[in-house]
Amino acid sequence: MLQHLHPRLVCSSCKGALVQSEALLQCCSCNAVYTIDDTYVSMLDRREQVDRPSGWNRKEAEIRDYSEISQSLALSGIGRFATFLNYGYVPHGSEQHAVIEPGDAWNRNSIKLLLETVGRTVIRDRQVIDIGCGRGGNIAALSKYFKPLSIVGLDICPANIAYCNAKSRGGEFWYLVGDAENIPFADESFDVVLNIESAHAYPDRSRFYEEVHRIMRVGGVFLYTELMPGDQVAQNVRLLEEAGLSVIRDQDVTSNVLLSCDENAKQRTGTQGIASNVGAGTNIGDINDFIALPGSKKYEEMKAGTRQYRMMNLVKRS
Ligand SMILES: C[S@@+](CC[C@H](N)C(=O)[O-])C[C@H]1O[C@@H](n2cnc3c(N)ncnc32)[C@H](O)[C@@H]1O
Repeated sequence: MLQHLHPRLVCSSCKGALVQSEALLQCCSCNAVYTIDDTYVSMLDRREQVDRPSGWNRKEAEIRDYSEISQSLALSGIGRFATFLNYGYVPHGSEQHAVIEPGDAWNRNSIKLLLETVGRTVIRDRQVIDIGCGRGGNIAALSKYFKPLSIVGLDICPANIAYCNAKSRGGEFWYLVGDAENIPFADESFDVVLNIESAHAYPDRSRFYEEVHRIMRVGGVFLYTELMPGDQVAQNVRLLEEAGLSVIRDQDVTSNVLLSCDENAKQRTGTQGIASNVGAGTNIGDINDFIALPGSKKYEEMKAGTRQYRMMNLVKRS
């Protein structure tokens, strides 16, 4: 029965075996309970609310923000096309790593960000997981350009996973609600782990890196991008290496991301754009900063170099 959810699914908390009964999954070892409904399977262990309340509050805020974005996108009429939730990448004179060009695709800058992140990594016939998959744009593009054997999308926001499931055409694709710090898969389940613009929201970064290392096979590749304070880059690299992940590429692509923010601004502030439809009446606060519009604090910090957009490839050597 569990096969149709994913052959290597385990308890998010203790990694024990699961049993399925009707609309529930239960861990045989620690008794954690997970829910299955018509629109998504949730692998969030709600006991964390009690055991680690401060970390959970941060996660709850992410769920709330992205639920509001999802709702606003649906109401604006562009929800169907808004499959990416990232800043995107525009090339200039700097060195590029992508082996494929996206052409004039819709969401071109976001697809370019993915293709640059992938670089020369072999994806074909590999088992891939996208952690913090958002609305599934990266998964659709990976599938189109690289033909992996299978892909899992994991995201903490149920509205995002419900959206991905509604768009899914079946096949070797699974979308699950779950937490990057408590990944519900057995050790060595994946060849490639993708994480685009999501880890800044995780309260315990080391725990996430350890989880990535655990679920990867030896020789597997971690494709990772994140906007981080410039003075925390070295610390993040140290934490990654302590988790057993060796950096094989680490690029500062802030200038490419800023160019994309400039290009995106017109569309995002138009009548159907996210800046015009999200914010008022929601908890997100400064939507201009959330999406790094020119002039916003985040945009200016990127320009000044106090925040850097890093693009990394790492390998699990043992
Ligand atoms: C900026 S969006 C990026 C989405 C996607 N990677 C993309 O490129 O379009 C960040 C995503 O991370 C997800 N997220 C935040 N905290 C998470 C966590 N602890 N575990 C899993 N996903 C998380 C959010 O729900 C959101 O969908």
